Amino acid sequence: MTARFRSTLQPRETDMNIIIAPDPAHAVEKAAAIVADEIRSHARPVLGLATGRTMESLYARLVTRYRDGTLDFSSTTSFNLDEYVGIPAAAPQSYHTYMHRHLFDQVNMRPGHGHVPNGMAPDLNAECAAYEDLIRASGGIDLQLLGIGETGHIGFNEPPSAFDTRTRPVILDPVTRQQNAEMFGNDADAVPERALTMGVGTILDARRLLLLAVGSSKAAIIRKALLDPMTPDISASAIRLHRDCTIIMDEAAAAELGLEGSRLP
Ligand code: F6R
Repeated sequence: MTARFRSTLQPRETDMNIIIAPDPAHAVEKAAAIVADEIRSHARPVLGLATGRTMESLYARLVTRYRDGTLDFSSTTSFNLDEYVGIPAAAPQSYHTYMHRHLFDQVNMRPGHGHVPNGMAPDLNAECAAYEDLIRASGGIDLQLLGIGETGHIGFNEPPSAFDTRTRPVILDPVTRQQNAEMFGNDADAVPERALTMGVGTILDARRLLLLAVGSSKAAIIRKALLDPMTPDISASAIRLHRDCTIIMDEAAAAELGLEGSRLP
């Protein structure tokens, strides 16, 4: 089911393309199809990528397409949203490792074309400035993939994150450290306190946004992000400012939106 959804709370006329799938598998498949089409529609695609549990099955579907010969990553460049500070790239918990395991090493992306911020850089601010320069030099991001965290973050833009923030070091919210504790022996204290993240402004610069959320644990924060007034306290609410934003959810994640009245035939 697809709905064009116009929130009266938005400051200007911006349609969000909301797709509600019957279950997580259909939601992920729809998102994978959009990413695959985006890759096919550019001579040199530039993707913004996310990590996290939600994205694992999406990457698996992209890998399947590569293996069956219907998707070619040889011209693709990518930029990940974020990385922990103080975790070596080769560590199992790093987002470098995640990306290599789930995508980069599984497809024909050229070495060095999958960028992830370096959370071990001696000068973190310089690393963030260089990351912004690299995104700009690549021509900007065609499609930015997003998940949503329990704090309402996109990337690691924890509350409060101004909508004009750029790539920078941040302190992770305790809720996020708890959310991500599984990779750290279920010990939230073992999750790094800091991370590097693209800013909300960096994300909004992408030509297209695609947010994927599945499961009932996302329902309340999805409602706040899409229906409550936009606020730096929920950085995901900023996506309503974007002119080309698609949100794909399963029915569980969309349950609190009360979209019935807005559904198109
Ligand atoms: C990860 C990221 C985060 C996650 C979000 C949802 O790179 O930027 O914003 O997308 O925390 O994570 P999951 O999918 O694990 O619920």
